[in-house]
Amino acid sequence: MAKDLGVFFGEMLRHPKEVVAIAPSSGAVARKMSEGLEGVTGPVVEIGPGTGSFTRAILNRGIAPEQLTLLETNERFCDMLHEKFPGVRVLNRPAQDIENIGLIDIGAVISGVPVLARPQIQRDVVGRAFGVMAPQGFFTQITYSPGAPISPEMQRELGVSAEKRGTIWANLPPARVFVFRRMQH
Ligand SMILES: C[S@@+](CC[C@H](N)C(=O)[O-])C[C@H]1O[C@@H](n2cnc3c(N)ncnc32)[C@H](O)[C@@H]1O
Repeated sequence: MAKDLGVFFGEMLRHPKEVVAIAPSSGAVARKMSEGLEGVTGPVVEIGPGTGSFTRAILNRGIAPEQLTLLETNERFCDMLHEKFPGVRVLNRPAQDIENIGLIDIGAVISGVPVLARPQIQRDVVGRAFGVMAPQGFFTQITYSPGAPISPEMQRELGVSAEKRGTIWANLPPARVFVFRRMQH
């Protein structure tokens, strides 16, 4: 835990634009982010896992290690994740590569990647994830803003709708969890 904090803070200073937060997410956020995974039978992908606070919660929901793939751009975090989570596939690749990792019919994507206010990232991360998602698959996103991390226009463009799952005030900073699903026609 103290090691996680130290490594996280160090990597935040080295790569502020990628890491963005000042500390790993709390257990309460991780539990909120991993809600609904109990019933998922297909592959699960976590993007931007950092030091693995959501990863632990995902496995605690009963997702088998071999069912889970992590996409993380930071090499130091990847080394830590390999060590901490034997059997989980850890790829030192960006979330934007999700279509090229040999998975289809993904049951859920859990995202710590900062997507707010960057339309191209929203297309490349959220849009591509839905390209390889199962019909009932869902995309869970953490954000520090009170509103949905992607605009109504972008939701329409990507064919998804966003629903707020909750706010966790006891996190630094307070965190919100949103879930994106395919729009029903
Ligand atoms: C705000 S931190 C969240 C870490 C962790 N999920 C948590 O909540 O404690 C964002 C993480 O996303 C990673 N990241 C940023 N851009 C990424 C991308 N395009 N693909 C994969 N990981 C990315 C960063 O290296 C960092 O580990």
